[in-house]
Amino acid sequence: MPQFNETELTAAVIRSFEQTPDRRVKFLMQELVRSLHDFVRKTDLTFDEWGYSIDFLTRVGQKCSASRQEFILLSDVSGVSMLVDAVNHRERDGATETTVLGPFYVGEHKPMPHGSDISTTLPGERMFVQSRVTDLQGKPLAGVPVDVWHADDDGFYDSQKPNYDEVGASARARFVTDSDGKFFFRTILPCSYPIPTDGPVGEMIMQTRRHPMRPAHVHFLIAAPGYEPLVTHVFIEGDKYLASDVVFGVKEDLVSRVEKRSD
Ligand code: BEZ
Ligand code: FE
Repeated sequence: MPQFNETELTAAVIRSFEQTPDRRVKFLMQELVRSLHDFVRKTDLTFDEWGYSIDFLTRVGQKCSASRQEFILLSDVSGVSMLVDAVNHRERDGATETTVLGPFYVGEHKPMPHGSDISTTLPGERMFVQSRVTDLQGKPLAGVPVDVWHADDDGFYDSQKPNYDEVGASARARFVTDSDGKFFFRTILPCSYPIPTDGPVGEMIMQTRRHPMRPAHVHFLIAAPGYEPLVTHVFIEGDKYLASDVVFGVKEDLVSRVEKRSD
C-alpha cells in the first residue's frame, strides 16, 4: 500500500496521468496538478479555506445561464483572460492591439447601412465613429464584417435588460467595410460601467475592496476571411478608470480621443 508525504503525493498524481493518449492534455493536466499542489503547500491551505473555495466555485457555476457566464467573469477579473490573450498574441507585426471579448457579445450582429444611428432611442451625448480595416501592409480590406457593441449612458448593455428579447438590439450592430475598407456609424458616447456584481465574482470584488468598474469603451470584433479575427476595444481618452480597469484590458494604443464637433 503506497503512502505519500507532501511532495511524493504530488509526484504520484502527476505520474497517474502518464498514460493520457493526447500529449497536450497530459502536459496540461500534469502542470495544473503541479501548480495547484504548490499553491496548497505554499499557503498551508486550511480545511475551512478549501471548503470555502469549493463552495465559491459551486456558486460561480450555479450563477451561469444561457445569458450569464460567471466563469468568464472570474477569468476576466483574475487577469487570466488577458494573460491568455497576451501569450497568444506575442507577435503582432504592427497589427491593432487585442483585448477581452467580454460576456456581452451575443453572436453575429444584424448588418446595418453605413452611417446608421445604432443607439435607437437611447439618451446620451451623440458620437460619430469612423474607421478603416486594412492588412498589415495598409491595403484596404473590403467586404469585412465588423461587429460593434457598447454600453448605454447608464452603463448597461442591451442584452442585460429584461425585455431584450422583445425590444432587440441597441448600441449593437454589424457593418460591412466598403471598397476602401471603411465603415462609419452614429451612436451615443459610452460611459464607464461596473461589471455584474450580483454574483459570487462581484462578492469577491467587494470583499477584497477592489472596485468593479471598466473605463468607457466600444467593442469591435472584426473577422476578415483568411485573417486572424481581431477582438478589441477603443477606450475613451480621459476616463478615470483607464489605469484601474477591473479586467486589466486597457492598452495604451487602444485609447482614443473623442473630439467635440458642431456639425
Ligand atoms: C465588457 O467589456 O463588456 C466586459 C468585459 C469583461 C468582463 C465584464 C464586461
Ligand atoms: Fe464592455
